[in-house]
Amino acid sequence: MQQFKVGHISEFPERRGKVVKLGDVELAMFNMGDGTVKAVENSCPHKQGKLSEGIVCDGHVYCPLHDWKISLTNGIVQAPDEGCVKTYNVTVDGSGGVTLSIDGAQMRVS
Ligand code: FES
Repeated sequence: MQQFKVGHISEFPERRGKVVKLGDVELAMFNMGDGTVKAVENSCPHKQGKLSEGIVCDGHVYCPLHDWKISLTNGIVQAPDEGCVKTYNVTVDGSGGVTLSIDGAQMRVS
């Protein structure tokens, strides 16, 4: 498991996506407004819409292209649509530092 400090929570606008790139992996990170930050891969399983540009509501992101609703907790696409995106573990420390944890299999650094 590798950990990356990716900024301070004040750099993540509430309920809006921020793109973070680690090697070949592009993530969409969301400040949920409750002191937590969620991270998912920045590609919708439907037609690769950029989830970082989606609307966040009630713990989900709505894809900007065709409005699929995807959980930011487990990455599962909500019915009637199907699929899932990868999720990544994010911690926010007491001083607001945001750390992303990625296991080796999730990184494809070229
Ligand atoms: S690309 Fe995301 S819903 Fe179509």
